[in-house]
Amino acid sequence: MPNNRVAIVTGAAQGIGLAIAKKLAEKGIGVAIADINIKEAEYQARLLNEGGKNAASFYVDVSSLNSIEKMLHDAAAYFGQINILVNNAGILFSTPVQEITEEEWDLVMDINLKGVFFCMQKALPYLEGRPHSRIINISSIAGQMGSYASGMSYVASKGGILSLTYGMSRRLAPMGITVNAVCPGTIETDIIRQWTPEKIRELESRIPVGRLGRAEDIASAVAYLAQEDTDFITGEAVSVNGGMYCG
Ligand SMILES: NC(=O)c1ccc[n+]([C@@H]2O[C@H](COP(=O)([O-])OP(=O)(O)OC[C@H]3O[C@@H](n4cnc5c(N)ncnc54)[C@H](O)[C@@H]3O)[C@@H](O)[C@H]2O)c1
Repeated sequence: MPNNRVAIVTGAAQGIGLAIAKKLAEKGIGVAIADINIKEAEYQARLLNEGGKNAASFYVDVSSLNSIEKMLHDAAAYFGQINILVNNAGILFSTPVQEITEEEWDLVMDINLKGVFFCMQKALPYLEGRPHSRIINISSIAGQMGSYASGMSYVASKGGILSLTYGMSRRLAPMGITVNAVCPGTIETDIIRQWTPEKIRELESRIPVGRLGRAEDIASAVAYLAQEDTDFITGEAVSVNGGMYCG
């Protein structure tokens, strides 16, 4: 059933972001599929529209402030409003500590951390003062407990997203905007295919629920936080990891 709300989902051309876009669209929310891979974003938006949903694709490189501003402007012009921002775009390197370069460090921080902050900052004029505005940041179990497999650039960027979520939740609460994080465990998407099958099996053996996560598991948590009746939940980090890490 259409409900007139609109969500921006960054990195939504595939994987977790796409599952989030699909889940929100199923709930009648208009979804902006915002991604650097515009071809795939266009294709996925077309599929959603053919299925009777309300979706549109927008190019964004979240490491560029100009690109973020243009994407938000174009999405707001297309849909008429923005109610929900899901900061999902991210990249992963699993480089050993001794081999991490300055270039890798800067690239990961630019996309995973700077991108999240400036998407929040630039979205404020659209979100402020609207009822039930939501920001949901996709962090990681790596940001909570240091990870068994991801590189330190990634670990630090995802820990930074948690700190930003806590700090921004306090600052944006008076504007009527909740800010929460979702921390996925090990989820079967392209991003983990850089690990060997043995490494993935080892990680799976550490998951009490007994399986790897699915992109849809993350989408369910995001859809919950995006609801209109969650105004009192802010500054929270929701773990979706099959019990791999708790506490
Ligand atoms: N898969 C996991 O196990 C896992 C675990 C914890 C957290 N996460 C996080 O979930 C998010 C989604 O990951 P995924 O597993 O779906 O990965 P993925 O690689 O399948 O998808 C990432 C998406 O982000 C897009 N993207 C990359 N750089 C971009 C940029 N500069 N600007 C805009 N879009 C860009 C890609 O084109 C792609 O569509 C990431 O932030 C990731 O760190 C994933």
